[in-house]
Amino acid sequence: MGLKAINISKEFNDIKVIKDFDFAIEAGEIVTLIGKSGTGKTTFMRLLNQLEKADNGTIFIEDDYLCRETANGKAEYVSKKERLAYSNQIGMVFQDYQLFPNLTILENCIEAPTAQKLMSKEQAVKKAELLLGQMDILGKKDEFPGTLSGGQQQRVAIARAMMLNPQILCFDEPTSALDRDTANGVGKMIQDIAADGTGILIVTHDIEFAEQYGTRSVSSDSFI
Ligand SMILES: Nc1ncnc2c1ncn2[C@@H]1O[C@H](COP(=O)(O)OP(=O)(O)O)[C@@H](O)[C@H]1O
Ligand SMILES: [Mg+2]
Repeated sequence: MGLKAINISKEFNDIKVIKDFDFAIEAGEIVTLIGKSGTGKTTFMRLLNQLEKADNGTIFIEDDYLCRETANGKAEYVSKKERLAYSNQIGMVFQDYQLFPNLTILENCIEAPTAQKLMSKEQAVKKAELLLGQMDILGKKDEFPGTLSGGQQQRVAIARAMMLNPQILCFDEPTSALDRDTANGVGKMIQDIAADGTGILIVTHDIEFAEQYGTRSVSSDSFI
């Protein structure tokens, strides 16, 4: 169970951001990735979520590979079909949530799984309503994102990321726009998700939050 990233390197314009970095998350862990601004934390999370490509290394979740290191050390990406299998095992909640502004809250949740034909519309609606209920935001299901507060949009983004029961859920700076009470609410929701066996990765510069809710901490100092 869990995610492994082995010997990962990434550079932009000949500047190395991540070099020979090894990382793993087991089921139920809440790993916090902390470190100074500009040290590559978001880049690492984007690599795991296929939003950037690693130059070197191997990334997989259980039996589903995203890329494999070849004999010359380069990261070779697997076929589109295999990448899709991998991507269904991992979800990401963005710092700015990235909800679709022209879709309702319910539509935001069902869009990807139904477009990929992974669920019927009825199944997707049922699952979305269950998750929105768990996130205490079901009452807003027919509203558009723009009418919700930041904290409410974040809960929708969490529900959306959970639609396919990913093994791994990633959060980029989940508390940066929240007051302390709201942040604690999110921390407790993250603990509940982890208690069901999901492995969590949180990028944060909120040390207090990391200490309170993380089960293990990694520093981005170890990227280079
Ligand atoms: N797409 C990109 N193109 C060029 N440079 C980038 C790109 N993404 C990130 N960087 C650079 O990589 C470094 C790490 O950025 P980032 O991962 O956002 O750091 P953090 O999340 O730790 O603040 C920064 O110097 C940033 O400017
Ligand atoms: Mg960042």
